[in-house]
Amino acid sequence: MSAQIAPSVLAADFAQLGAQVEEALLAGARWLHLDVMDGHFVPNISFGPLVVQALRTLATQHQAVLDVHLMITNPERHLEAFARAGADLITVHAETCSNLSTVVSAVRQLGCRVGVAINPLTGLQAFEPVLDQLDLALIMSVNPGFGGQAYIPSSTAKVAELRALLDARGAKAHLQIDGGIGADNAAAVAQAGATVLVAGSAVFGSGRGIAANLRALQVALG
Ligand code: DX5
Ligand code: ZN
Repeated sequence: MSAQIAPSVLAADFAQLGAQVEEALLAGARWLHLDVMDGHFVPNISFGPLVVQALRTLATQHQAVLDVHLMITNPERHLEAFARAGADLITVHAETCSNLSTVVSAVRQLGCRVGVAINPLTGLQAFEPVLDQLDLALIMSVNPGFGGQAYIPSSTAKVAELRALLDARGAKAHLQIDGGIGADNAAAVAQAGATVLVAGSAVFGSGRGIAANLRALQVALG
């Protein structure tokens, strides 16, 4: 199966959030990426469990994965709230966890799938203690905090290296990439081994509209 696009609602018009998300789902999105920012781990503040909960019904109607990306310090304090709000998958940053294995187990005990993310300056060895337990490994291809940033080109080689690591272990985790993805680089990143490509501005930003933007990305992926 070819790689999937996970629209990031961070770039949506929040006055029309439900309608815009529905448009993406009707256009075939099967993942919804929700960026939670705390103004501490990252400079920006976005939203919390209320928005996850608000989108739960739409995601269920379209059989989409509610993919919650926690860019927050002390994520363990908030896991239960996001699980209760309806997250299918919760991703924490390796940089925020002093004991990553404990946090990964805590997410799983709440009945959610679990992901770990690393920043551009963090090495792949951060995944090492938990790689076999993950449903998703996320490589950030921008410094987290804001949508609309330029893709960091060295991320593609990092994806290829992680793909080789996962394959060597027979690990089935999704390999997700997040930041600066567009129709210009989606194919190369998928070719390198990413299976889920997060796209915010390329889906919800200006252009020909959400459905057409999504289609352009899907066409680029082939
Ligand atoms: C960045 C977020 C991304 C962001 C992607 O901190 O984690 O998910 O919304 O936005 P674009 O696709 O515009 O780079
Ligand atoms: Zn994200």
